Amino acid sequence: MPFWRNIYGWCLFLSLSTSSLRPSLSGLSLRDVLIQPERRTSIEPDVRSRTMGVADTTGEQPFDRAQELKRFEESKLGVKGLVDSGLTSLPPLFIHPPETRSDLKPARPTPGSIPTIDLSGCDSARRPSVVEEVGRAARELGFFQVVNHGVPAEVLDSTIAAVKAFHEQPMEAKARIYRRDMETGVSFFSNVDLFHSKAASWRDTLQIRLGPKLADVEEIPEVCRNEVLEWNQQVQRLGGLLLGLLSEGLGLSPGKLQELTCLEMRVMVGHYYPYCPQPDLTVGLTSHTDPGVITLLLQDQVGGLQVKHGDEWVDVAPVPGALVVNIGDILQIMSNDEYKSVDHRVLANPSQEPRVSIAVFCNPSNREKEFGPFPELVSSDKPPAFREFTFKEYMRRFFTKELDGKSLINFFRA
Ligand code: OGA
Ligand code: NI
Repeated sequence: MPFWRNIYGWCLFLSLSTSSLRPSLSGLSLRDVLIQPERRTSIEPDVRSRTMGVADTTGEQPFDRAQELKRFEESKLGVKGLVDSGLTSLPPLFIHPPETRSDLKPARPTPGSIPTIDLSGCDSARRPSVVEEVGRAARELGFFQVVNHGVPAEVLDSTIAAVKAFHEQPMEAKARIYRRDMETGVSFFSNVDLFHSKAASWRDTLQIRLGPKLADVEEIPEVCRNEVLEWNQQVQRLGGLLLGLLSEGLGLSPGKLQELTCLEMRVMVGHYYPYCPQPDLTVGLTSHTDPGVITLLLQDQVGGLQVKHGDEWVDVAPVPGALVVNIGDILQIMSNDEYKSVDHRVLANPSQEPRVSIAVFCNPSNREKEFGPFPELVSSDKPPAFREFTFKEYMRRFFTKELDGKSLINFFRA
């Protein structure tokens, strides 16, 4: 069977990257996983030997990254499992290189820099001004928050609570679905790019395929099943509304993006960022852009998400009741560079309170169609900034590399 037949979105990566590494189910004990890092007296020599290719001067064995990755993966514990074991320093696997560590600070408070847009009345008299605000945020920042979006506050709270409850179940319940293939449409894992990245990040993820074919309902963990199904409904309604506003913001008909199937392939990730004992040495999620059309993000009140604006990292401070919306690479391409897909990251969580966030990535379901800048947005003054490509080609490139910034979108530049 061709590999894309039963795999969607992020899931393509998961199957490609780990099919040869998928662990046998040889349950390693927690002690096995932790013993190596715990024996170390200092982390700095590890960082040096790994990032600079020099030998460890303490006389210890050089850090065997591949072996530690394998142990971590086979334990199926995720990062939360490590934290629950009482660990007080980071396993070397998670220590990021100095370039990443040097600017890991909460941003200076810059109130109002990520706009919060009120969607009330956007189907009536206020529509032109809402379209204007959405279009401006998409052009200037690539990120905005929305309030009065029509999703009841109880639904926001119960969705967060359900994903949190999933991650806080006994380890065995989660280990049963620890996997990187998406045949059933449901998986739990730590670090989508674990086997591609230079260093691992401090978070675990529950991933569920919402569309075009919903995951097997029985496979969706019972602790969050009803909430996930409800969230899928809400995202479809609100996603349609937002795609309409974003289409109009480009001067196109409101139905344009939805006609191109841009809301049909939906993948949900329920992230859990546990307390991190050394948040200066790692991140919660490395800087990246989202590959798809738009992402709808529900975050709790803990904070840590940052967006790159120029050379500065700007906090996306939690706003009670709000949802975060961001532009993905495909929409930047279709808009012929008008809308911006920007780098964002999550700091490792320094608070005892775990952070929970739920992102739904909306992608085109038509993988064979050629995508490129809308002809309406191309002129002699504004030649096409990107060549055409199929979504299939696009995702193949995305899922065989580390999560990073603009390397993918630049590959398709004209
Ligand atoms: C993502 C993402 C942000 C967050 O999953 O792509 O950017 O706050 N998540 O978890
Ligand atoms: Ni993202």
